[in-house]
Amino acid sequence: MPTPAATASARSGIRVRPLTEHIGAEVENVDLSRPISQAEFEDINDALVTHSVLVFRDQDLPPAMHVDFSARFGRLVGHLVKRFSVEDYPEVTYISNVRNEKGEMIGADRAGMVWHSDMSYFPRPMLGSMLYGVECPPEGADTEFASMFAAHDALPASLHALLARSRGVHDYAWHYANYLSHRPPLTEDEKAKAPPVAHPALRTHPVSGRKAVYLSEGLTRTVEGMDEEAGRRLVVEVSQFATQPQFVYRHKWRPRDLVFWDNRSTMHRATEFDNRHRRLMRRTTVEGDVPF
Ligand SMILES: [Fe+2]
Repeated sequence: MPTPAATASARSGIRVRPLTEHIGAEVENVDLSRPISQAEFEDINDALVTHSVLVFRDQDLPPAMHVDFSARFGRLVGHLVKRFSVEDYPEVTYISNVRNEKGEMIGADRAGMVWHSDMSYFPRPMLGSMLYGVECPPEGADTEFASMFAAHDALPASLHALLARSRGVHDYAWHYANYLSHRPPLTEDEKAKAPPVAHPALRTHPVSGRKAVYLSEGLTRTVEGMDEEAGRRLVVEVSQFATQPQFVYRHKWRPRDLVFWDNRSTMHRATEFDNRHRRLMRRTTVEGDVPF
């Protein structure tokens, strides 16, 4: 199937150019360094629901405007680990390998290297995330995004039937112990803020009504009511099925890119890069609804 054609909005002037058959679009003719109009907001929101990942190139986005734009879409939730916040902006998190003068990481380092949907371990997981490139390595450090709509629609019937009656157990402390052991351990207080939570393995997008896979290798520990190991194997099988290349858009970062993705219909992961290069990104996350 070819990539769909670009469209332009008469009401806002925004142009939306799809990047792959299933997922991703570049949004052109909008300036995020100033407050957006209601028409621009509605067109961006529609494009997010349709394309799941939106790329805005060449944007000036200081933290204040990053917060301003993000907050149009809902309540902002800062990182569980408070020391990764941008000074004076607790809702903005650094994703970075840069160290401060004391030698401490200023942000989340090697974050999200395994497929996941952001903060799915909360009762109300994130609607969306906005990641802005300040300093990007010349190669590597791409972000891959997979369409959970496309994955859902391609599920074999028997697997679909099983998932339709299953709930995944999303567990941050388990994730941290397994994938983030290079960082200082979570404090008891941090652990207490994110006890495991179960969500439907297939969720309904609250705006479009489309169904999406909602299990991820990185944050879904197992399946509720199943033997722990058997549930884990099912999660991994589904996550691997759902992230096949035909469902994926791979974003190669340039400084001044803003990427806004819909966590209700995607999974994503970061990829490796040469750690001698500085990587400095800022992220906001917008709270969503209880999955159903
Ligand atoms: Fe993430």
